[in-house]
Amino acid sequence: MTPYKQLFENNKTWIASMKAKDADFFEKLATDHTPEYLYIGCSDSRVPANEIMGLDPGEVFVHRNIANVVANNDLNVMAVIEYAVAHLGVQHIVVCGHYNCGGVKAAMQPKDMGIMNPWLRNIRDVYRLHQAELDGIKNEHDRYNKLVELNVQEQAINVIKTAVVQKSYLEKKFPLVHGWVFSLETGELIDLEINFTEKLKDIQKIYNLTGG
Ligand code: CO
Repeated sequence: MTPYKQLFENNKTWIASMKAKDADFFEKLATDHTPEYLYIGCSDSRVPANEIMGLDPGEVFVHRNIANVVANNDLNVMAVIEYAVAHLGVQHIVVCGHYNCGGVKAAMQPKDMGIMNPWLRNIRDVYRLHQAELDGIKNEHDRYNKLVELNVQEQAINVIKTAVVQKSYLEKKFPLVHGWVFSLETGELIDLEINFTEKLKDIQKIYNLTGG
């Protein structure tokens, strides 16, 4: 366990290492915020957003919550998406899940989790949408991994349902929305290759918010 005070020593070492790479790093960091990516991932401490993508501070706008959920009544994630698209002009939005996700696992258990119940229900709803496919997978671990992937897909679709994403894409052809999964066992990022334009077309049959 790292002693608490050590964190400040770590900070000094980090400052020195960033300055060694680029002497003006912090001057530039303080003046500009133009990240190309919005990353929506799990809060799990084993999935550090910047590091797995090899990105420095300033390069990715990050939102994390339990099991990378994009709920339409969550003011937090909705404000993040609005700000990233309308004000930062991000080119890409990534929803990144990970295998061995505790949130997804909890949503597969018949257990009262208190205030987490309504949150995890978002994932149970994903299960319900894909019940036939998931129930067809007999191996529990494989079923769990599949739910991780389907949760990413459905949360990416929830991003596409927002007016700000639809309108920006109509006007500027961005952002593109992607779904990824991170493997804790190998460190690998896997692109689920969600066909954004196809999904957008499907979604807009019911959730088209580009009028007016
Ligand atoms: Co997780």
